[in-house]
Amino acid sequence: MATRLVDWKREKECDVYLASKPSPGRPTCPGGQSAGLGVNADLLADAGGTARWVERLGPGTVVLRGFAGETAAAIWAAVGRLTKLAPFRQMQTPGGFRMSVAMSNCGEVGWVTDPAGYRYAERDPDSGRPWPAMPELFRQLAATAASAAGFADFVPDACLINRYAVGARMSRHQDRDERDLTQPIVSLSLGLPAVFLFGGGQRSDAAVRVTLTHGDVVVWGGPDRLRYHGVLAIKPGEHPLLGACRVNLTFRKAR
Ligand code: SIN
Ligand code: FE2
Repeated sequence: MATRLVDWKREKECDVYLASKPSPGRPTCPGGQSAGLGVNADLLADAGGTARWVERLGPGTVVLRGFAGETAAAIWAAVGRLTKLAPFRQMQTPGGFRMSVAMSNCGEVGWVTDPAGYRYAERDPDSGRPWPAMPELFRQLAATAASAAGFADFVPDACLINRYAVGARMSRHQDRDERDLTQPIVSLSLGLPAVFLFGGGQRSDAAVRVTLTHGDVVVWGGPDRLRYHGVLAIKPGEHPLLGACRVNLTFRKAR
């Protein structure tokens, strides 16, 4: 049986990526075709060997499996400290709905939503204080992941921290509140697995489903920067480090 690294739903894109030719010196699947995605070996090398494997979802999108590695525990500990200063809260959408995902931020600016709209704010609206500073560890992880995905010199100024209890979900949306859309989005998953929906440039476009687990990093940018994405309801489970919960850190260059 042929192994597919990605749960492709759109054959056209699938063909594009599976059709890439093996390059000299790149390992091929013994007794089979080329390793297929065409870029894995380079990305793994660029990632300093920390991604266990790489899946390409589009011309500007990769999933770096297990990229956070041992650092995930330190990042989770830092999330605990940060959310003492800026506690998780369920914000309201401009349409007046309360989000099932609870959010906090760190960095120079933080993403917020309320009946007045979506925006980046320099202060936590709950406390009136600036958001906690982004730990150097976060910045480093985001920059290394971006560079492994082909986006050099990524310096995030915002980190949205999303906490999903069992049953929480995020409906399909584009990340488009950032000023410079040439900068990628870097997204780290911790805790319980989630099914990430990665669609196209239109809300109605079909989406691929990718299961993200603890330590995985997704980077999207360039031609994929405005692709719709969302997260299906988190299934019940117990993660050894986070318990019955998933946390996602999304790094952006907002300003
Ligand atoms: C987001 O789009 O802000 C979150 C994505 C995720 O939780 O994986
Ligand atoms: Fe998003």
